[in-house]
Amino acid sequence: MKEVEVSAPGKLMLFGEHAVVYNRPCLVTAVDQRMMVAMEISARQVIEIEAPGVGIRNYRRKVKDLGKGTNIPKGVRFLERAIKNFFDQYQVESGLKIKTKSEFSSQFGFGSSSAVTAATLEGLSILLGINLSKKELFNLAYKTVLDLQGVGSGFDLAAAIWGGTVYFVTGGKRIIPLKKMGKLPLVIGYSGVKAETPTLVRQVESLYLRYPRLVEGIFDHISLLTREAKKALVEGNFKKGGELMNLNQGLLESLGVNTKKLAALIFAAREAGAYGAKLSGAGGGDCMIALVNKETKPAVERAIGKSKGLVIKVQTGAEGVRRE
Ligand code: PMV
Repeated sequence: MKEVEVSAPGKLMLFGEHAVVYNRPCLVTAVDQRMMVAMEISARQVIEIEAPGVGIRNYRRKVKDLGKGTNIPKGVRFLERAIKNFFDQYQVESGLKIKTKSEFSSQFGFGSSSAVTAATLEGLSILLGINLSKKELFNLAYKTVLDLQGVGSGFDLAAAIWGGTVYFVTGGKRIIPLKKMGKLPLVIGYSGVKAETPTLVRQVESLYLRYPRLVEGIFDHISLLTREAKKALVEGNFKKGGELMNLNQGLLESLGVNTKKLAALIFAAREAGAYGAKLSGAGGGDCMIALVNKETKPAVERAIGKSKGLVIKVQTGAEGVRRE
């Protein structure tokens, strides 16, 4: 094969953030905003990348220089490392022409790096004729993320690869796609503040090191409620799902990752009739989510807008990485 186009979805954390870094489960769903990666084999031993969405034009790198140097632009870091890891792991090499196109703003924290990593590796496996299972793809993608970020559970890669809604334990120890779960009635509000996930993960780690037993206890409670939420959401019991979101939010607050802005949006959503609401992801900014029904949805959206949040329209349970 000479050329291929692959896409992978972004993600939204539903339950279990932070605890999932410490060997606990989380629930994550794929959203219908995708990262597209078009790849072509080229005869020259050069990787050429166009990623206009992140300001990358005419980027070139010799195959033999992959992974060398420190000032690789942010917009191609994951792509380049994914290619290097694939070449190293499967003892292959090729020049490539690559174009990426993103349907989502990387600002909203929907996981552009994990989507581009998953799509790049899947594209390479098709182009170079090396068949990979989803788990093999996950392992190589997770290595890529850890190489660059140092921390992270890998939950976002599970969403990018399996799609749908996934019950996930740290590092892919368990990955259970929840096939019976339909689309979730969610409202998503962006707080307007961009958060740096590794910074927040390290902040929680510092709390953990100072109060290990207390924080272990908080993680255990998050783990319990995540398992309850898995059942509730599969059964379509959104009232219970909302209550569990509120419980999860209280525990995230105690970990110190809530913000005034997120809290304002969360209270606004609850007061407007949502079943429940919580922050989604690392906290410190980014997005909150609220579980609603058809009747309460418009009021919840209005309330978030009034509190100066930006309502983002996405559907949950999108398809995982695929060839276009
Ligand atoms: O901020 P996000 O959406 O990338 O989510 C981070 C979730 C954490 O549990 C805090 C980190 C992780 O890798 O699981």
